[in-house]
Amino acid sequence: MAFVVAVAQQKGGAGKSTVAANLAAALAASGGRVALLDTDPQHSLTRWHAERQKQAGRAAPLHFAAPSGWRLSGALDQLRREQDFVILDTPPHADTDAKLAIRGADLVLMPLQPSAADLWASEATMKLAADEKRRLAALLNRVPAQGRLRQEIAGRLKAANVPLLTPVLGNRTGFAQAFQEGLAVTEAQPRSAAAEEVRALEAAIRAMAAGKG
Ligand SMILES: Nc1ncnc2c1ncn2[C@@H]1O[C@H](COP(=O)(O)OP(=O)(O)O)[C@@H](O)[C@H]1O
Ligand SMILES: [Mg+2]
Repeated sequence: MAFVVAVAQQKGGAGKSTVAANLAAALAASGGRVALLDTDPQHSLTRWHAERQKQAGRAAPLHFAAPSGWRLSGALDQLRREQDFVILDTPPHADTDAKLAIRGADLVLMPLQPSAADLWASEATMKLAADEKRRLAALLNRVPAQGRLRQEIAGRLKAANVPLLTPVLGNRTGFAQAFQEGLAVTEAQPRSAAAEEVRALEAAIRAMAAGKG
């Protein structure tokens, strides 16, 4: 049975597609069957995956699909039986597809940048996860190398009882560079700081899937 992770956050640009792609590719690279589902009508991951098809040899094999609407639940049921991990990218609104993705998930992974705007937008995702009684974990993304915002936002998440993952992703151009090539940073620049961060994220998600995190 797969461990299903819905990467969700109402705010556009928070890093959902980046996190979904990098997490899925990192999990696939360490072995195991991984499916990545694009349920966002903007289809960033569908474009990413099209580029990925040209990267034979560099890209770990992934099962990719873009089911939406009524097809999502059926697709998820089947993948849950066949895969070890299913990672879902979701639309940037608390709409029906985001709700269905969250409903089908074991974990709602909520990326947010350390800013008040991202924190406020997170409330909709927190409410969706709570309504669906789903486990929620926040992931700080685009964390600047310096500044107090990170501590401030971490404190506010704690006050709201939202668990925050220890690994964070820094603000690094390597993420956008790898994405346009259809790769994860672990594939494009395996020795970069960004790759190190993604491997730490992967380890945290594996620990949760094993019931140890
Ligand atoms: N950690 C990061 N460092 C630098 N740029 C990032 C990072 N995460 C995301 N980005 C960039 O921010 C933009 C929005 O990210 P994206 O994953 O598309 O967000 P969402 O799917 O939530 O709308 C993209 O241009 C992406 O390359
Ligand atoms: Mg997106």
